[in-house]
Amino acid sequence: MVDSLKKPQFEEVRPGVKAPAEETILTPRFYTTDFDEMAKMDISVNEDELRAILEEFRIDYNRHHFVRDEQFQKSWDSISGETRKVFIEFLERSCTAEFSGFLLYKELGRRLKDKNPVLAEIFTLMSRDEARHAGFLNKALSDFNLSLDLGFLTKSRKYTFFKPKFIFYATYLSEKIGYWRYITIFRHLEQHPENEIYPIFSFFENWCQDENRHGDFFDAIMKSQPQFLNDWKARLWSRFFLLSVFATMYLNDVQRSSFYASLGLDAREYDKHVIKKTNETAGRVFPVVLDVEHPGFYQSLETCVTNNEKLTEIANSNAPAAIKLLRKLPFYVSNGVELLKMYLIKPIRVDNLAGTVR
Ligand SMILES: [Fe+2]
Ligand SMILES: [Fe+2]
Repeated sequence: MVDSLKKPQFEEVRPGVKAPAEETILTPRFYTTDFDEMAKMDISVNEDELRAILEEFRIDYNRHHFVRDEQFQKSWDSISGETRKVFIEFLERSCTAEFSGFLLYKELGRRLKDKNPVLAEIFTLMSRDEARHAGFLNKALSDFNLSLDLGFLTKSRKYTFFKPKFIFYATYLSEKIGYWRYITIFRHLEQHPENEIYPIFSFFENWCQDENRHGDFFDAIMKSQPQFLNDWKARLWSRFFLLSVFATMYLNDVQRSSFYASLGLDAREYDKHVIKKTNETAGRVFPVVLDVEHPGFYQSLETCVTNNEKLTEIANSNAPAAIKLLRKLPFYVSNGVELLKMYLIKPIRVDNLAGTVR
C-alpha cells in the first residue's frame, strides 16, 4: 500500500495537473520582444558563422536522444517526503524555464519567417529543442502522478517585454548557465552514481549540448550587432544581467539546498562553480564580466539569503498585510543595498581582447 503520509500534497487544478507555482521575482520568466526591430536586423557582419550554426541545428544531433527507456518503467514512490517535494519543484521549475524558451523561440521563428529567414529557421529549430526538453521534463513529472498544463501556462503567465538587445543578453546567459548547471550535475553523478536517484540526469550530457549551441547562437548574433556590445551602456547592462542571473540562481538554489543535498551536492559549492564558469564563458562575448572572486560578492549574496529567510518567515506569519509589509520593508531595503554593492564591485574588462581567441 502506498504510504500517503510520505507524499507531499500539491495543489491541483484538475486531478493530476499541478497548479503552477506562484510567480515571484525568482520564478522563471516568460519573454516577448519587438519583433519588427528583430526582423530588420542586419546580420551580414557575422552571417557566415550564423549560417554555420544553422547547419548544426539542421543536423539535429539529439533527434533520438529524448526517449524514455526502461529505466523509467518503475514506481518512484521510493522518492518520498521532503526529497519528493523538492524534486517535483525542480522538475516544474526546469520544465517552465524550458517551455518559456520554446514559446519565445517559436514566436520569433514565426514572426521573422518572411523578413529574416536565416534567423527565423534558427529560432524554429531551437524551439524544437526546447519543446523536447520541456516535454521530457513534463513526462518526468507524470512519473510522480503530476503534470503541468502548458497551454494554461501560455495564456496565464505575464510576459516581460525586452528590446532585442536585452533579449539577447538574457537568453544568452540563461542558455549558458543552463549548460553549466546540467553538465555540472551530470559530471558529479558520473563520479557518484549512488546519488542518481532518478534516471533523468543521465540525459543531461547530450541535453546540455543543445543549450550550449543555443548559447553559441546568441553569442554569434550579438557579434553581428557590435553596437550592442561596444559602448559604456553595454558594459553597464552586461554587469546588470550577469548579476541578476547569478543572484537569482543563488537565492533560488540555496533556498532549495535539500534538493542538491539529495544528489550529494552542496548547493552553495555547486552554484559558485556554475557562476564562475558562466562568468568565464560570458567573457567571450560580453565587454565586461563580474569579479566573482571579490570577497564582498558572496558576503552580499549571503546577506540576501538571510534577508529572504526573514521575508519568508514574515510572509508565513499571521500578521495583517499592512504589518507584514512594514516588517518586510527593512529586508527589501537591505537586499537593494547588497545588490547595489555587488553591482558596484569593479568589473573585469575583457573587451580589449575582442577579435582574439579567448
Ligand atoms: Fe533547453
Ligand atoms: Fe536552450
